[in-house]
Amino acid sequence: MSIETHSRRGFLAGTASAAALTVFGTGQLSAMSAFATPSKPSAEGNFIPYGAAVRSDALAADQSYREAVIADCQLVVPESELKWLELRPTPDQYRFEKADAIVDFARQNGIQVRGHTLAWYGALPKWTEQIATHADAERELIDHIETVVSRYKGAIPSWDVINEPLVDWPESAASLRPSIWAKRLGPDYLRIALETTAAVDSDARLVLNEYDVEYAGERFSAKRSALLQLLRSLRDRNVPLHAVGLQAHLFASRTIDRDGLQALLTEIKALDLDVWITELDVIDRDLPGEIHERDKLVADLADQFLQTVYEVVRPKAVLTWGLSDRYTWVPIYFKRRDGMPNRPLPLDAELRRKPLFDVIDEFRHKA
Ligand code: XIL
Repeated sequence: MSIETHSRRGFLAGTASAAALTVFGTGQLSAMSAFATPSKPSAEGNFIPYGAAVRSDALAADQSYREAVIADCQLVVPESELKWLELRPTPDQYRFEKADAIVDFARQNGIQVRGHTLAWYGALPKWTEQIATHADAERELIDHIETVVSRYKGAIPSWDVINEPLVDWPESAASLRPSIWAKRLGPDYLRIALETTAAVDSDARLVLNEYDVEYAGERFSAKRSALLQLLRSLRDRNVPLHAVGLQAHLFASRTIDRDGLQALLTEIKALDLDVWITELDVIDRDLPGEIHERDKLVADLADQFLQTVYEVVRPKAVLTWGLSDRYTWVPIYFKRRDGMPNRPLPLDAELRRKPLFDVIDEFRHKA
């Protein structure tokens, strides 16, 4: 493919495509796209930025994937590279190579980076289980946040400071997951994490990220209530927080609770908090095998979700948890019983656009 066949609109507008060519030569640029608008968020005008979780190993080894990310993403978020497990092999060590590689890649290509995540119960190294006292937990959490956030100050303007704080069927905001942070520090870990991040980088947008808030059913409405209660209690105590992240791992087997989700978003708006869609994908385990039908159902579900959100609030960005079905976490937990590969993401495993891609693209361009 020559430069000429590259999306005209994209190419004229400039930066990212030019950067792609500068950094990676004039080889084939695959997965050119309508939302490969090369103007990145700063020059995005009215468009809602789109991004995806990326993997450093794949970016390094797989040129066509790297080019697709450059072509399609205004934002990236490291899928694992900023988690404790990757950064903190031992209590005394910080290992930044992989996260740095993603930040460098993004910078070279005019792409913004989100940070994920500082205080989570998951992906913690084994040694954190030995944190025995309140004082030690506080010291570890603060030291980690200070070290990581200050390293990327200016390079990572938004952070999922808190990830998945609530249990799956909470009774109230007090139903926190029994992470080492909640066990040693109680609910105060939320304040400590948010205040520390704000103190280190006062420009960073601080996000509390949660899942399972969009469906019909008792468990999900309990999650919505507890989340709202939690947000209100943080606000009442003047704890810094700018936004809620809706992960949006959508299950084709569940029903979106339009009223429930919109009521939650209305309350979030009333608290003056932004909304980010942070990890969108569609768990297609229970959908029919036939690919056209499946891709259509996946796209329709995402469309329904995005429209439901948009009727109440315009999200700051939409990110999917991966760009291509070539690299997705879904089969780790939600493998199909018929043995066919999962297809949860906007591009297929060959980096071709799927209907989900078009749904997101159309959504981005809403006024
Ligand atoms: C997942 C990654 O995709 C996997 O590669 C990793 O092994 C486990 O974590 N919600 C989150 C993400 O907030 O951090 C999770 O990412 C997916 C669910």
